[in-house]
Amino acid sequence: MGVCMNLSVQLAPKNKRSLVLENPVMTASGTFGYGTEYEHLFNIQNLGGIVCKGTTLEPRQGNPQPRIAETPCGILNAIGLQNIGVKALVQEKAPIWATWQTPVIVNIAGNSVEEYEQIARILEEAPGIHGIEVNISCPNVSAGCMEFGSDPASAFRVTAAVRKATSLPVWVKLTPNTADIVSIALAVAEAGADAIVLINTLKGMAIDIKTRRPILGNITGGLSGPAIKPVALRMVFEVAGVIKDIPLIGSGGIMTTRDAIEFFLAGATAVQIGTANLINPRAPIEILAGIKEFLQNEGLSDIKELIGTAREQL
Ligand SMILES: Cc1cc2nc3c(=O)[nH]c(=O)nc-3n(C[C@H](O)[C@H](O)[C@H](O)COP(=O)(O)O)c2cc1C
Repeated sequence: MGVCMNLSVQLAPKNKRSLVLENPVMTASGTFGYGTEYEHLFNIQNLGGIVCKGTTLEPRQGNPQPRIAETPCGILNAIGLQNIGVKALVQEKAPIWATWQTPVIVNIAGNSVEEYEQIARILEEAPGIHGIEVNISCPNVSAGCMEFGSDPASAFRVTAAVRKATSLPVWVKLTPNTADIVSIALAVAEAGADAIVLINTLKGMAIDIKTRRPILGNITGGLSGPAIKPVALRMVFEVAGVIKDIPLIGSGGIMTTRDAIEFFLAGATAVQIGTANLINPRAPIEILAGIKEFLQNEGLSDIKELIGTAREQL
């Protein structure tokens, strides 16, 4: 009762435009559409932020069905970035977002550095957009379709290009499909990222033993949900050990308040909820209520008192 609690977080401390969320709980890209689809379900203005569906230069139909396969502890998805394209997003969605209290961050994807750059330039002019989240899990077509995010040099190039193209806060979302996450994180920080999001999905697959064929239309897909939480948590912890001047944002298997708290302790300043939304769209709001209760029970008045403290005990 009555205790004043500070849940606000700054997620672009080095950017003149800055990006302050009233609380550290967001929805993850691709699991909450454009936000507008959920307005009738609950007061989405209580979310700390909304990251919209991955957006490309041109509209995309996505991959052939099936695009989702359940696994014992998570799901595989291969949506293939179905989306309306950046121009329709600016015309149809951004004006709605401009009336919202909750900041919307646009997740972007491209097959070349130039595509990322162009999308960022188009978003720069739009109202109702508070930041850009760069998905570097996309295949770099000119580098033999290796993911941009799997090597430090291409991760640097795409980050630096987006950084140059916009004054908006730029978050870079890393893929776990790499041998050395710390090198990638250092590269994108060096290239001017305002924050780093860890992690996107882990590459996986499933096979139907009756048809003896891969289940997903795309053959492989991205694994998300509880199965990937220990990997995501470890990556946040490792990166937090070397990157101190920009915030980290945790993503990967956060289903409960307890999961979210673990990410704060590992060094995340904010969290994104993905797969949990597909089961219960109110999950982010329920997790937020749980975080408040946890802080109160622990006698803490500011979320920042939790961040990175798992390391202090070592
Ligand atoms: C159906 C689905 C679609 C997704 N689409 C995107 C996307 O367009 N861009 C992106 O960066 N991440 C996308 N993701 C990844 C999520 O944003 C999130 O980072 C990942 O699923 C790990 O978090 P989770 O375990 O809480 O789902 C998608 C995930 C799912 C399950």
